[in-house]
Amino acid sequence: MKILPLNEQIIWLTGASSGIGAALIPALQSRCKHLIITARNADALSALANGYSNVTVQAADITNEQQLQQVANYIGDQFGRIDTLIANAGTCEYVDVKQFDTALFRRVMDTNFMGLVYTVAAALPWLRQSERGYLAGMSSSVTWLAMPRAQAYGASKAATRHFLEAMRADLWHEGMDVSVISPGFVQTPLTDRNDFPMPGRITAEDAALAIIKGLEKRVFDIHFPKRFTRILQLLGALPAALRFRITRAMARNNNTTSSSGDTH
Ligand SMILES: NC(=O)c1ccc[n+]([C@@H]2O[C@H](COP(=O)([O-])OP(=O)(O)OC[C@H]3O[C@@H](n4cnc5c(N)ncnc54)[C@H](OP(=O)(O)O)[C@@H]3O)[C@@H](O)[C@H]2O)c1
Repeated sequence: MKILPLNEQIIWLTGASSGIGAALIPALQSRCKHLIITARNADALSALANGYSNVTVQAADITNEQQLQQVANYIGDQFGRIDTLIANAGTCEYVDVKQFDTALFRRVMDTNFMGLVYTVAAALPWLRQSERGYLAGMSSSVTWLAMPRAQAYGASKAATRHFLEAMRADLWHEGMDVSVISPGFVQTPLTDRNDFPMPGRITAEDAALAIIKGLEKRVFDIHFPKRFTRILQLLGALPAALRFRITRAMARNNNTTSSSGDTH
Protein backbone atom coordinates (compact mmCIF):
# COMPACT_ATOMS: atom_id res chain seq x y z
CA MET A 1 0.00 0.00 0.00
CA LYS A 2 1.35 3.41 -0.90
CA ILE A 3 2.10 6.07 1.70
CA LEU A 4 -0.31 8.99 1.48
CA PRO A 5 1.63 12.23 0.76
CA LEU A 6 1.77 14.53 3.82
CA ASN A 7 -0.42 17.12 2.11
CA GLU A 8 -3.30 14.63 2.04
CA GLN A 9 -2.87 13.45 5.63
CA ILE A 10 -5.02 13.91 8.73
CA ILE A 11 -2.56 14.11 11.64
CA TRP A 12 -3.21 13.94 15.40
CA LEU A 13 -0.46 15.46 17.54
CA THR A 14 -0.41 15.25 21.35
CA GLY A 15 1.72 17.38 23.67
CA ALA A 16 1.20 20.33 21.35
CA SER A 17 0.88 23.16 23.90
CA SER A 18 4.63 23.74 24.38
CA GLY A 19 8.14 22.70 23.45
CA ILE A 20 8.65 20.21 20.61
CA GLY A 21 4.90 19.76 20.03
CA ALA A 22 4.32 23.52 19.74
CA ALA A 23 7.21 23.78 17.25
CA LEU A 24 5.68 20.95 15.22
CA ILE A 25 2.40 22.88 14.70
CA PRO A 26 3.59 25.43 12.09
CA ALA A 27 5.92 22.89 10.49
CA LEU A 28 3.18 20.26 10.14
CA GLN A 29 0.20 22.47 9.29
CA SER A 30 1.98 23.86 6.22
CA ARG A 31 2.63 20.31 4.99
CA CYS A 32 -0.49 18.32 5.92
CA LYS A 33 -4.21 18.44 5.09
CA HIS A 34 -5.50 18.80 8.66
CA LEU A 35 -3.81 18.81 12.05
CA ILE A 36 -5.59 18.07 15.33
CA ILE A 37 -3.68 19.22 18.41
CA THR A 38 -4.08 17.96 21.96
CA ALA A 39 -2.78 18.85 25.44
CA ARG A 40 -4.43 19.86 28.72
CA ASN A 41 -3.87 23.61 28.31
CA ALA A 42 -6.68 24.58 25.90
CA ASP A 43 -5.80 28.30 25.97
CA ALA A 44 -2.22 27.64 24.92
CA LEU A 45 -3.43 25.33 22.14
CA SER A 46 -5.91 27.96 20.87
CA ALA A 47 -3.21 30.63 20.80
CA LEU A 48 -0.89 28.30 18.85
CA ALA A 49 -3.66 27.35 16.39
CA ASN A 50 -4.69 30.96 15.83
CA GLY A 51 -4.59 31.90 12.14
CA TYR A 52 -4.40 28.35 10.79
CA SER A 53 -7.58 27.17 9.05
CA ASN A 54 -6.39 23.53 8.99
CA VAL A 55 -5.59 23.19 12.71
CA THR A 56 -8.25 22.02 15.22
CA VAL A 57 -7.86 22.17 19.00
CA GLN A 58 -9.02 19.17 21.03
CA ALA A 59 -7.88 19.49 24.64
CA ALA A 60 -7.48 16.29 26.69
CA ASP A 61 -5.50 14.79 29.51
CA ILE A 62 -3.65 11.74 28.18
CA THR A 63 -3.95 9.98 31.53
CA ASN A 64 -7.73 10.02 31.00
CA GLU A 65 -8.67 7.24 28.61
CA GLN A 66 -12.21 8.52 28.14
CA GLN A 67 -11.09 12.02 27.10
CA LEU A 68 -8.75 10.49 24.51
CA GLN A 69 -11.54 8.30 23.13
CA GLN A 70 -13.67 11.43 22.73
CA VAL A 71 -10.92 13.22 20.78
CA ALA A 72 -10.26 10.20 18.54
CA ASN A 73 -13.96 9.77 17.85
CA TYR A 74 -14.28 13.49 17.07
CA ILE A 75 -11.49 13.13 14.49
CA GLY A 76 -13.09 9.97 13.10
CA ASP A 77 -16.49 11.66 12.79
CA GLN A 78 -15.02 14.75 11.11
CA PHE A 79 -12.48 13.15 8.79
CA GLY A 80 -13.25 9.43 8.69
CA ARG A 81 -9.70 8.43 9.56
CA ILE A 82 -6.39 9.29 11.21
CA ASP A 83 -3.41 8.93 8.85
CA THR A 84 -0.66 9.73 11.36
CA LEU A 85 -0.63 9.82 15.16
CA ILE A 86 2.29 11.62 16.77
CA ALA A 87 2.08 10.65 20.46
CA ASN A 88 4.47 13.28 21.76
CA ALA A 89 3.02 14.32 25.15
CA GLY A 90 5.25 13.56 28.10
CA THR A 91 6.74 14.68 31.37
CA CYS A 92 10.02 14.35 33.24
CA GLU A 93 10.71 14.00 36.94
CA TYR A 94 14.01 13.02 38.49
CA VAL A 95 14.45 10.52 41.29
CA ASP A 96 16.25 11.18 44.53
CA VAL A 97 17.19 7.70 45.74
CA LYS A 98 17.66 9.04 49.25
CA GLN A 99 13.98 10.03 49.34
CA PHE A 100 12.58 7.22 47.28
CA ASP A 101 9.09 8.23 46.18
CA THR A 102 6.96 5.61 44.46
CA ALA A 103 4.25 8.20 43.69
CA LEU A 104 6.76 9.92 41.38
CA PHE A 105 7.22 6.65 39.46
CA ARG A 106 3.47 6.28 39.10
CA ARG A 107 3.06 9.86 37.80
CA VAL A 108 5.81 9.48 35.22
CA MET A 109 4.71 6.03 34.07
CA ASP A 110 1.03 7.10 33.96
CA THR A 111 1.84 9.98 31.61
CA ASN A 112 4.75 8.74 29.51
CA PHE A 113 3.80 5.10 29.15
CA MET A 114 0.14 4.49 29.98
CA GLY A 115 -0.81 7.90 28.48
CA LEU A 116 0.82 6.86 25.23
CA VAL A 117 -0.85 3.44 25.36
CA TYR A 118 -4.27 5.09 25.91
CA THR A 119 -3.61 7.47 23.00
CA VAL A 120 -2.72 4.58 20.71
CA ALA A 121 -5.77 2.60 21.85
CA ALA A 122 -8.05 5.53 21.04
CA ALA A 123 -6.41 6.20 17.66
CA LEU A 124 -6.07 2.61 16.40
CA PRO A 125 -9.61 2.10 15.01
CA TRP A 126 -9.22 5.32 13.00
CA LEU A 127 -5.64 4.57 11.92
CA ARG A 128 -7.07 1.36 10.49
CA GLN A 129 -9.36 3.49 8.28
CA SER A 130 -6.31 5.13 6.68
CA GLU A 131 -4.78 3.68 3.52
CA ARG A 132 -1.56 3.06 5.44
CA GLY A 133 -1.84 4.31 9.02
CA TYR A 134 1.24 5.55 10.85
CA LEU A 135 1.99 5.67 14.56
CA ALA A 136 5.00 7.65 15.85
CA GLY A 137 5.64 7.73 19.61
CA MET A 138 7.98 9.88 21.66
CA SER A 139 10.73 8.06 23.54
CA SER A 140 14.16 9.53 24.36
CA SER A 141 17.84 8.90 23.70
CA VAL A 142 18.13 8.26 27.46
CA THR A 143 17.04 4.68 26.68
CA TRP A 144 20.54 3.90 25.33
CA LEU A 145 22.30 4.62 28.63
CA ALA A 146 20.71 4.24 32.08
CA MET A 147 21.57 7.60 33.61
CA PRO A 148 21.56 8.36 37.31
CA ARG A 149 18.28 9.89 38.59
CA ALA A 150 16.48 8.70 35.43
CA GLN A 151 15.02 5.58 37.07
CA ALA A 152 11.46 6.73 36.39
CA TYR A 153 11.85 8.81 33.21
CA GLY A 154 14.27 6.38 31.55
CA ALA A 155 12.12 3.38 32.46
CA SER A 156 9.01 5.06 31.03
CA LYS A 157 10.81 5.86 27.79
CA ALA A 158 12.37 2.38 27.56
CA ALA A 159 8.90 0.89 28.04
CA THR A 160 7.64 3.17 25.29
CA ARG A 161 10.42 2.06 22.92
CA HIS A 162 9.73 -1.61 23.64
CA PHE A 163 5.97 -1.11 23.18
CA LEU A 164 6.45 0.64 19.83
CA GLU A 165 8.92 -1.94 18.55
CA ALA A 166 6.50 -4.75 19.33
CA MET A 167 3.64 -2.74 17.79
CA ARG A 168 5.67 -2.35 14.60
CA ALA A 169 5.89 -6.12 14.28
CA ASP A 170 2.17 -6.69 14.84
CA LEU A 171 0.85 -3.73 12.84
CA TRP A 172 3.06 -4.55 9.83
CA HIS A 173 0.60 -7.35 9.09
CA GLU A 174 -2.18 -4.75 8.92
CA GLY A 175 -0.20 -2.53 6.57
CA MET A 176 0.66 0.08 9.21
CA ASP A 177 3.97 1.75 10.06
CA VAL A 178 5.39 2.54 13.50
CA SER A 179 8.32 4.77 14.52
CA VAL A 180 10.01 5.65 17.77
CA ILE A 181 11.32 9.20 18.19
CA SER A 182 14.41 9.61 20.39
CA PRO A 183 15.71 13.15 20.70
CA GLY A 184 18.86 14.22 22.48
CA PHE A 185 18.61 17.52 24.38
CA VAL A 186 16.06 19.95 22.95
CA GLN A 187 15.48 23.43 24.35
CA THR A 188 11.94 23.34 25.81
CA PRO A 189 10.28 24.12 29.16
CA LEU A 190 11.10 20.49 30.10
CA THR A 191 14.88 20.99 29.77
CA ASP A 192 14.84 24.66 30.81
CA ARG A 193 14.46 23.30 34.37
CA ASN A 194 17.83 21.51 34.12
CA ASP A 195 20.77 23.29 35.74
CA PHE A 196 23.58 21.23 34.20
CA PRO A 197 25.32 21.31 30.81
CA MET A 198 23.28 19.74 28.01
CA PRO A 199 25.70 18.81 25.22
CA GLY A 200 24.43 19.25 21.69
CA ARG A 201 21.15 20.86 22.78
CA ILE A 202 19.16 21.94 19.72
CA THR A 203 16.17 24.24 19.30
CA ALA A 204 12.60 22.91 19.29
CA GLU A 205 12.28 24.19 15.70
CA ASP A 206 15.27 22.08 14.57
CA ALA A 207 13.82 19.10 16.46
CA ALA A 208 10.50 19.58 14.62
CA LEU A 209 12.27 19.56 11.24
CA ALA A 210 14.27 16.43 12.16
CA ILE A 211 11.02 14.71 13.22
CA ILE A 212 9.26 15.62 9.97
CA LYS A 213 12.23 14.34 7.95
CA GLY A 214 11.94 11.01 9.82
CA LEU A 215 8.16 10.90 9.46
CA GLU A 216 8.45 11.34 5.70
CA LYS A 217 10.76 8.31 5.46
CA ARG A 218 8.88 6.26 8.10
CA VAL A 219 12.15 4.78 9.40
CA PHE A 220 11.64 2.97 12.73
CA ASP A 221 14.29 4.90 14.68
CA ILE A 222 13.98 8.67 14.35
CA HIS A 223 16.83 10.06 16.45
CA PHE A 224 18.67 13.37 16.47
CA PRO A 225 20.97 15.24 16.68
CA LYS A 226 23.00 12.33 15.34
CA ARG A 227 26.33 13.71 16.63
CA PHE A 228 24.90 13.24 20.15
CA THR A 229 22.62 10.20 19.82
CA ARG A 230 25.31 8.11 18.04
CA ILE A 231 27.71 8.71 20.96
CA LEU A 232 25.03 7.61 23.44
CA GLN A 233 24.35 4.49 21.36
CA LEU A 234 28.08 3.68 21.40
CA LEU A 235 28.33 4.22 25.18
CA GLY A 236 25.26 2.05 25.67
CA ALA A 237 26.90 -0.76 23.68
CA LEU A 238 30.00 -0.82 25.92
CA PRO A 239 30.49 -3.73 28.33
CA ALA A 240 28.57 -3.20 31.58
CA ALA A 241 31.71 -2.55 33.64
CA LEU A 242 32.69 0.35 31.37
CA ARG A 243 29.13 1.71 31.23
CA PHE A 244 28.95 1.77 35.02
CA ARG A 245 32.27 3.63 35.23
CA ILE A 246 30.69 6.41 33.19
CA THR A 247 27.31 6.50 34.91
CA ARG A 248 28.86 6.15 38.40
CA ALA A 249 30.96 9.22 37.66
CA MET A 250 27.83 11.10 36.60
CA ALA A 251 26.06 10.03 39.80
CA ARG A 252 28.98 11.22 41.92
CA ASN A 253 28.77 14.60 40.20
CA ASN A 254 25.08 14.80 40.93
CA ASN A 255 25.70 14.12 44.58
CA THR A 256 28.38 16.75 44.92
CA THR A 257 27.30 19.53 42.56
CA SER A 258 23.52 19.72 42.34
CA SER A 259 20.27 18.12 43.21
CA SER A 260 18.96 17.95 39.66
CA GLY A 261 19.19 15.17 37.12
CA ASP A 262 20.78 14.89 33.72
CA THR A 263 18.33 13.29 31.36
CA HIS A 264 16.39 14.36 28.34
N1 LIG B 1 13.18 18.34 25.48
C1 LIG B 1 13.97 17.30 25.38
O1 LIG B 1 15.22 17.42 25.46
C2 LIG B 1 13.41 15.93 25.14
C3 LIG B 1 14.32 14.89 24.87
C4 LIG B 1 13.81 13.61 24.66
C5 LIG B 1 12.45 13.36 24.69
N2 LIG B 1 11.60 14.40 24.96
C6 LIG B 1 10.17 14.10 24.99
O2 LIG B 1 9.51 14.94 24.07
C7 LIG B 1 8.15 15.14 24.47
C8 LIG B 1 7.83 16.62 24.49
O3 LIG B 1 8.64 17.20 25.51
P1 LIG B 1 9.06 18.74 25.51
O4 LIG B 1 10.50 18.77 25.77
O5 LIG B 1 8.50 19.44 24.34
O6 LIG B 1 8.36 19.17 26.89
P2 LIG B 1 7.25 20.26 27.26
O7 LIG B 1 7.55 21.56 26.61
O8 LIG B 1 7.14 20.17 28.73
O9 LIG B 1 5.92 19.67 26.57
C9 LIG B 1 5.24 18.57 27.07
C10 LIG B 1 3.89 18.52 26.40
O10 LIG B 1 3.19 17.35 26.87
C11 LIG B 1 1.91 17.77 27.33
N3 LIG B 1 1.46 16.91 28.43
C12 LIG B 1 2.14 16.58 29.56
N4 LIG B 1 1.37 15.85 30.37
C13 LIG B 1 0.17 15.71 29.73
C14 LIG B 1 -1.05 15.09 30.06
N5 LIG B 1 -1.23 14.43 31.22
N6 LIG B 1 -2.06 15.15 29.18
C15 LIG B 1 -1.93 15.82 28.01
N7 LIG B 1 -0.79 16.42 27.63
C16 LIG B 1 0.24 16.39 28.50
C17 LIG B 1 2.09 19.22 27.78
O11 LIG B 1 0.86 19.91 27.69
P3 LIG B 1 -0.10 20.35 28.91
O12 LIG B 1 0.76 20.63 30.10
O13 LIG B 1 -0.83 21.53 28.37
O14 LIG B 1 -1.01 19.18 29.11
C18 LIG B 1 3.04 19.73 26.70
O15 LIG B 1 2.31 20.12 25.56
C19 LIG B 1 8.04 14.45 25.85
O16 LIG B 1 7.48 13.16 25.69
C20 LIG B 1 9.49 14.34 26.30
O17 LIG B 1 9.70 13.31 27.23
C21 LIG B 1 12.04 15.66 25.19
